[in-house]
Amino acid sequence: MTDTAHPAVYQRIAANLLQQLDSGHYAPGSRLPSVRALAAEHDVNVLTALAAYRHLEQQQRVVARPRAGYFAALQPHPAPGSGQASPLPAAAALVDLKSRMSTLLQLGDERIRWQLHMAEASPTLYPSAELARRLQSTLTRQPGLIGAHLPGDIQRRLCHGLQRIASERGLSLPADGILPCHGITEGISLALRYLTRPGDTVAVETPVYFGLLQTLQGLGLKALEIPCTPDSGLSLEALEFALRHGPAVKCLVCVPHFQNPTGALMPDEHKKRLLQLASQYGLTLIEDDVFGDLYYGSERPTPMKAWDRHDQVIYCASFTKSYAPSLRLGWVAAGRHHAALAQLQASSTLTVSPLLQAVLADVLDSGDYQRTSARIRQQLASQMHATADAVMRHFPKGTRIRKPQGGMLLWVECPPQSDTTALLQAALADGISFAPGMAFSAEPRFGHCLRINCGQPFTPALEAAITTLGQRLATQLLQAR
Ligand SMILES: Cc1ncc(COP(=O)(O)O)c(C=O)c1O
Repeated sequence: MTDTAHPAVYQRIAANLLQQLDSGHYAPGSRLPSVRALAAEHDVNVLTALAAYRHLEQQQRVVARPRAGYFAALQPHPAPGSGQASPLPAAAALVDLKSRMSTLLQLGDERIRWQLHMAEASPTLYPSAELARRLQSTLTRQPGLIGAHLPGDIQRRLCHGLQRIASERGLSLPADGILPCHGITEGISLALRYLTRPGDTVAVETPVYFGLLQTLQGLGLKALEIPCTPDSGLSLEALEFALRHGPAVKCLVCVPHFQNPTGALMPDEHKKRLLQLASQYGLTLIEDDVFGDLYYGSERPTPMKAWDRHDQVIYCASFTKSYAPSLRLGWVAAGRHHAALAQLQASSTLTVSPLLQAVLADVLDSGDYQRTSARIRQQLASQMHATADAVMRHFPKGTRIRKPQGGMLLWVECPPQSDTTALLQAALADGISFAPGMAFSAEPRFGHCLRINCGQPFTPALEAAITTLGQRLATQLLQAR
């Protein structure tokens, strides 16, 4: 073996790399030089360079990723003499799909003053006092709800309310074809569990909501990432190419309205064309409309399901973003698959809390949902404009954004040399978090992008945090020159 043939040489290269890892020259999780580049740098053959990497891999200081190369290890070792590992979460752990969601949740650490990493509006935007009164009055009128095991009548009443909401969106659905569920997350999981078997391939947008990648991974499914741009969403050309030439695809999960993370809104013409493609290739579409009610314009975008003549769309919606995150209530309209999904739900979570279903039914009957979601979306629109303008004022030249027309997420494309995973690590020390681009693909893509949550009221203090981010990025770019 070469590494025994040139022990001194590969060990010297490994020691040199180790020094660069310890000094922070390579941030945890960042990409390391290719084997070829390392060989050229030290004027050795590629096998010797490879031996140096293998040596560091054994020490768990670097990780090899198939077809992507070598990366600095995710868990940084404590600096010699420092005693303990960094008390703040390591941004690099976001690169690992298995720990991505839990690492992002850890960024909810109270020492991080500006938490801009999740897709959530500030708690002050939600109707806390109003909902507390509603809960109280629902229970006062129906104390038996506490002892209710299965929802029966309650669910029927809720589904009639949901049917009305659906018809305002242009969907004509039978009330008994609607299934309340635990957030949209459960609706999408049920659909995926029903439509696929482990090992199957599911098409998704890229960049994509990391929660979906984690769901797919949990079900043993492969994600086929189809490009999605802030301008018009999913690339239908790329999808058609993949359907024609790629592996068999069981279904597509897409977010046509204010996609996470790009904020893209799919034009109606694309929705109709996507339905045609689905017919042509026998593809089931799982439509995730979690942000649809948070439109900034005068009209709500119409779900793809409204043009679904051949029952190809499983439509999933939720109240977690547009009304009350903590209710964790969503719903799914699965057409001919309804009974199968209901059965799967019965065998896993049984049903959604009858108490919460009753409260939501009251909320829908009273018109509170329409009033509250209208107020939330107006506030989000003004926060989005102010935050996006601040990013353009304070981020380095070459930064690009496209202001979304709804939702709460701003996708920022920083200059190409940017490393937003390293930027996050630096920003955490300043008490600021955001979601780095690397979190939005299973492949090492979007390393120069980041997603900012615009759910917080815009204040001078928030502008100062954005200024700090911009300055940190400018410094990083200067150092990379
Ligand atoms: C695109 C997308 N789908 C689904 C979810 C989860 O929705 P829910 O809270 O209704 O489960 C999120 C949450 O951020 C999301 O961004």
